[in-house]
Amino acid sequence: MHIAKFHTPEIIIGPGSLAEVPRAAAGLGMRRLLIVSDRGLVATPWYPQLAQALHSDRLSVSSFTDISVNPRAPEIVAGFARYEESGADGIVALGGGSVIDAAKGIAILAANGGHILEYEGIDRARRPLPPLIAAPTTAGSGSDVSQFCIVNDVDRMTKVTIIGRGLVPDVSVVDPRTFVSLPADVAAQSGMDAITHCLEAYASLAHNRLSDRAALSSIGTAWRSIERFVDDPSDPDSGTDMAYAALEAGMAFTNAILGATHAMSHPVGGLCDAAHGAINAVLLPHVIRFNAEIDPTPYVELADAVGVRGGSPHAVAERLADEVASLSRRVGLPADLRSLGVRDEHVAVLTANALLDACMTTNPRKPTADDVARIYREAL
Ligand SMILES: [Fe+2]
Repeated sequence: MHIAKFHTPEIIIGPGSLAEVPRAAAGLGMRRLLIVSDRGLVATPWYPQLAQALHSDRLSVSSFTDISVNPRAPEIVAGFARYEESGADGIVALGGGSVIDAAKGIAILAANGGHILEYEGIDRARRPLPPLIAAPTTAGSGSDVSQFCIVNDVDRMTKVTIIGRGLVPDVSVVDPRTFVSLPADVAAQSGMDAITHCLEAYASLAHNRLSDRAALSSIGTAWRSIERFVDDPSDPDSGTDMAYAALEAGMAFTNAILGATHAMSHPVGGLCDAAHGAINAVLLPHVIRFNAEIDPTPYVELADAVGVRGGSPHAVAERLADEVASLSRRVGLPADLRSLGVRDEHVAVLTANALLDACMTTNPRKPTADDVARIYREAL
């Protein structure tokens, strides 16, 4: 009998839930908080609405919004400087996965000092983080419920994975209204990231029955709603579906961890600065085929959840891989890594970095360096 652990934050989800943030902040004892967001969100209604709601609750509010897609280590250092000079005692992150990961990085430095890249790996940040509320404005990253923080190491041109139970935010506030202004490409990238989370968490060596249920529920919901959502991110039904799918996928992968798709995606993101979800969508079918050669069982169960059935287990896994690639094309994502800027001469360094990524440890098939290089070449 295995022992299962399942960790989630308090979750507040539904249209209008952003209005709950001041109460959640007060409940966590915040008095002087830092809003971490990005410049794109400052121009939407959501950032001013949140800032105003927090001000009117007599909290002292500062902000830091200099964060790029694929947050860089120096941006986290600058955000930490803002946190310190403002005397903040908690953080509210409003944004996509990049913003929430940057907020986690700032929180790690606030509690532990040092340099953010020193915390690469598992459980390196030992001291408890200041209170953190995460309000995701994309449907996909799962960072609002996860113990992951991904930082772009610009010197090594790769992304480093920081993992620790202490990195799970205290409260996740998911307001699907904030998706209405999402560009179609971001909706597609983040949605395919969520689908990748389901598949990798379900096939992970560290999965358990609770993470399995979240993954199966999520992939069914995301699969039937992603195309409608990408066509019209303001559609309330598909937006709410994708909000729940991203949340459940996040709950699955934070507990089960991920696999080779993410381990191989992170070095590409650091090298080319391409969108995480787009890289995953290219790599995922190749990783499914590689893993299924040894054991197709998890993919047969995932395929069943999206209506792909019939034939031998290996044939079903192969069809699932084809269907993932086809779905990715239908939502407008690229077919290969070359379109994202990867060249043959990059494969050696990408392979070396992928083998070091913490997500590789839970991939159900342990790849050799030759395997990883071959998958990169197939995906080129
Ligand atoms: Fe991801």
